[in-house]
Amino acid sequence: MKIRSVGVLGAGLMGAGIAEVVARSGHETRVREVSPDLAAKGLARIEASFAKGVERQKMTAEERAAARARLTTTTQLADLAECDIVIEAIVENLDLKKQTFGELDRLCKKETIFCSNTSSLTITELAAATARPDRFAGLHFFNPVPVMKLVEVVETIATSPETRETVVEFAKALGKEPIRTRDNSGFIVNRLLVPYLLDAVRALEEGVGTKEDIDRGMELGCGYPMGPLKLLDFVGLDTTYAIAEIMFDEYREKRFAPPPLLKRMVLAGRYGRKSGRGFYEYGGKA
Ligand code: CAA
Ligand code: NAD
Repeated sequence: MKIRSVGVLGAGLMGAGIAEVVARSGHETRVREVSPDLAAKGLARIEASFAKGVERQKMTAEERAAARARLTTTTQLADLAECDIVIEAIVENLDLKKQTFGELDRLCKKETIFCSNTSSLTITELAAATARPDRFAGLHFFNPVPVMKLVEVVETIATSPETRETVVEFAKALGKEPIRTRDNSGFIVNRLLVPYLLDAVRALEEGVGTKEDIDRGMELGCGYPMGPLKLLDFVGLDTTYAIAEIMFDEYREKRFAPPPLLKRMVLAGRYGRKSGRGFYEYGGKA
């Protein structure tokens, strides 16, 4: 199946990045948010990234105009009914994702493939909320989406081989490098990354080093582009907390348990860059 039109659910950190990459690669792209304000905010994020892309000579001004023309936003789920594929990138909450996929299933044409960008929920459980588990897969992007090359393609025992191949080809058409993984919580990358990030919070809690030294240690000692506490602020502490809760619930292993400090920071509204403050301060942002 050739993918021409794409629906994206959510225009937050990930949804905006996904919509940007989808539109840049020549697909008609319709993004659904829950309010006009949030849709406008997502679009502004995409436009800022387009501008950076032009400035960095990753795209021409003409390509930017063409990509922008392929992008529309809506608050109505029904506007995604005719899309060939829908990629869900809403908050990491099982009930909300199941409810949204259930509604979408009743609205979309029967050929539409559903994909979730979830970090930690199992695709099987999301697919079970629809009557199309054979046309359901995981398509897990990495932040920042326009820059990170990888996507994880996740198949469940119900995903048809045709769906899997269509999704793999679609990922390549976006300019990404797909790897295939089974439907275990966290797939490949987060299964390895999340315990490391949580351990960095425990190291800070235990006073092993300052936040700056913990980050500098991993940047200069291991060549990581960002230390773990900077990366947590980048991903979002609210999202990481939700991911840790889900992975701990799945595996019941301490390495996935959210440390108390992470919980306290989320309770205090310190979500990282998106709220203006996490482990570090990002002056001026609301
Ligand atoms: N459009 C197109 N290209 C862009 C761009 C844009 N908007 N913005 C930047 N680029 C390009 C730049 O031109 C540059 O390309 P070249 O190397 O060819 O010159 C490249 O992207 C890097 O850009 P910058 O120089 O601005 O970025 P940087 O060197 O400061 O690095 C970073 C920024 C990529 C974020 C880097 O710090 C990094 O890799 N951090 C770690 C990110 C990470 O680990 N992400 C995964 C998070 S976990 C996850 O996502 C999964 C989950 O489920 C939670
Ligand atoms: P975010 O909080 O930045 O954005 C989520 C957006 O979804 C919000 O703007 C919210 O208004 C919107 N939303 C909520 N319900 C909706 C609905 N029913 N329809 C449309 N939009 C709705 O979160 P994020 O960081 O973009 O994460 C989104 C998903 O991507 C999560 O499942 C997360 O686990 C996953 N993910 C996140 C990262 C990351 O680094 N942050 C990386 C890979 C995957």
